[in-house]
Amino acid sequence: MEKEIRALKARKNAVVMAHNYQPMEVQALADVVGDSLELAVKTEETGADLIVVCGVRFMAETAKILNPERKVIVPVEDAGCPLADFLTPDLIREARQRYPDAAVVVYVNSTAESKALADITCTSANAVQVVASLPNDTILFGPDANLAAYVQRELPEKTIVPMPPGGHCYVHTGFTLADVEAARKRGGRVICHPECPPEVQERADLIASTGGMVRGAAAGGDEPWWVFTEREMASRLRVLYPGRVFYEKPEAVCADMKKISLADLRRALEREKHEIVLSREVMDRARRAIERMIAVGA
Ligand code: 13P
Ligand code: SF4
Repeated sequence: MEKEIRALKARKNAVVMAHNYQPMEVQALADVVGDSLELAVKTEETGADLIVVCGVRFMAETAKILNPERKVIVPVEDAGCPLADFLTPDLIREARQRYPDAAVVVYVNSTAESKALADITCTSANAVQVVASLPNDTILFGPDANLAAYVQRELPEKTIVPMPPGGHCYVHTGFTLADVEAARKRGGRVICHPECPPEVQERADLIASTGGMVRGAAAGGDEPWWVFTEREMASRLRVLYPGRVFYEKPEAVCADMKKISLADLRRALEREKHEIVLSREVMDRARRAIERMIAVGA
């Protein structure tokens, strides 16, 4: 299977992008593995004719928006992100009416239609820098309310209004104070994603995107790390830093991230399916918001 996938990639001049939460066997065959920001930026740098995004749908949509002339496919059509579904275009329009002076910042974990209504997008790696770059005092921020709370703590001079108030990722809200206490008892550093609840964030040693976790671990240290995000992240860190100890929470599984198997990847490359198709208008508007984020340079 691995041989066939490598041969198909070469024959079709395809590039495989995989998110850090993808099954390790998929990551092993990817040309780029990274967080949402890294995947978005790096798709633009490849000269590939075919871009295969092993992740959830919004990641493939972002790749398509940045590469409108290229074919972008996702191996499993219904790999979605329940967090992204919290934010609808109607919610954004209503919030804009209520706060006419506010800027709208939309997290990349969102649909292309919501991105098209944003002033700028952000990822968990650059949310603070993106909001800080805006002149507005009030920021409408969605869909993740915990990421919004993180930005609010870092930038107390701004008023961050979560859109909607309860938007969340079920994988990250599964982390609790009891998990922090259990980790503290056993010793080591607690590293959490900013989608975790505020009370967990407040007690963590480091709050970081998945790419930030890779960079943070590179700084070394021999203490064990408690990795409070989707459980595959700890496997990724173990591959990158052999000999170091990274603990995952076994129940922290993103079901959608686990839908893509090697058989799906091979089929996707063979049949060039499932293609991401978006309207030109949505892509053009969403691209402006994503390119503004990339220009912030964080
Ligand atoms: P990162 O951008 O940190 O990789 O996060 C994406 C995501 O889906 C978090 O659950
Ligand atoms: Fe979406 Fe959460 Fe899965 Fe990330 S872990 S893709 S935010 S459901």
